[in-house]
Amino acid sequence: MLRSLFIYLSKAGWARSIVTRWSVAWRAASRFVAGEKLSDAIDAIRTLNLKGIDATLDHLGENTTTVEGANRATEDILEAIQAVYESGVRANVSIKLTQIGLKLDRELCSQNLKRILSRARELNNFVRIDMEDSPLVEDTLELFYTMRDREGITNTGVVIQAYLYRSEKDILKIVRARGRVRLCKGAYKEPAEVAYPKKNDVDNNYDHLADMLLDGAVAAGAPGLSSDGKIPPLPGIASHDPARLAHAKAYAQQIKLPRQALEFQMLYGIRRDLQNQLVKEGYPVRVYVPYGTEWYPYFVRRLAERPANLWFFLSNFFRK
Ligand code: FDA
Repeated sequence: MLRSLFIYLSKAGWARSIVTRWSVAWRAASRFVAGEKLSDAIDAIRTLNLKGIDATLDHLGENTTTVEGANRATEDILEAIQAVYESGVRANVSIKLTQIGLKLDRELCSQNLKRILSRARELNNFVRIDMEDSPLVEDTLELFYTMRDREGITNTGVVIQAYLYRSEKDILKIVRARGRVRLCKGAYKEPAEVAYPKKNDVDNNYDHLADMLLDGAVAAGAPGLSSDGKIPPLPGIASHDPARLAHAKAYAQQIKLPRQALEFQMLYGIRRDLQNQLVKEGYPVRVYVPYGTEWYPYFVRRLAERPANLWFFLSNFFRK
């Protein structure tokens, strides 16, 4: 109930214009967002790297409504890729296709994506395509395959959401193509026709899909993380849920997948204890580091995931 309300608010323009005017909202959001400037994010990544943690840098933005906005976002992402290269940090980049025009014009989005992936390839980097709401899944996967198969650009991977019924089929296909997948539970509000409504079913499906990815990694010869921390292993287990992490670790051990051939991924500011623990155990860990002025929908989705964050936000508000 509260989750649905937050997910609605994350898309409501009126709520965005009210909340982003409150300085306390930014104070609360900055627990999850590295800063408004690219240099803030690079500094945050340097700190993570010192702890043995790699990063994926995300220039915040989604659902762009103009061609100029989509082109500007593309330039901003190219700037982020350049900054990773120049600073020498251990990081790749994550993007959202609606940020670079998917909802406006598929061809424009495809051209922008090609520019981003080509530049990342020139600089030996990797770009993860985040997954958004279910009506966009088909187009997102299609663009991913177009880049790989038609354009021959392979320094990219996608995200699969365990709450969707279709995900098993999607993973089967990607595993056969030896694609790189980040597996997450899913952050949007989806109808019961397309997604498991019950948390328990999502969790069970998560473990099942994780097993498929780990088996796929063994079948592909267990390629490991690149030495510069940029190109991830084939499976990315993205969760803060200790039971999901324990399941993936146990299954990987059972099928003798080396630790460097899978990666655990978490969000900036969430469960740092687990991040450090996994590093200590010798697993690659990557943290998703968002930055920029478009932090509102990202922040509100984090509130939706854990209503306790709301109390943290409100306590800041009343301390004002
Ligand atoms: P779950 O929600 O069950 O949480 C397990 C535990 O984690 C909680 O009990 C709490 O301790 C902690 N926790 C989780 N969320 C928290 C929060 N917001 N604040 C504080 N603690 C929290 N989704 C998507 O649809 N498309 C995408 O592309 C991505 N990309 C992505 C990248 C990475 C690196 C991660 C980690 C996650 C995503 N997600 C995503 C988000 C994902 O779908 C999901 O909404 C969140 O990860 C929360 O799910 P958990 O697996 O952590 O489990």
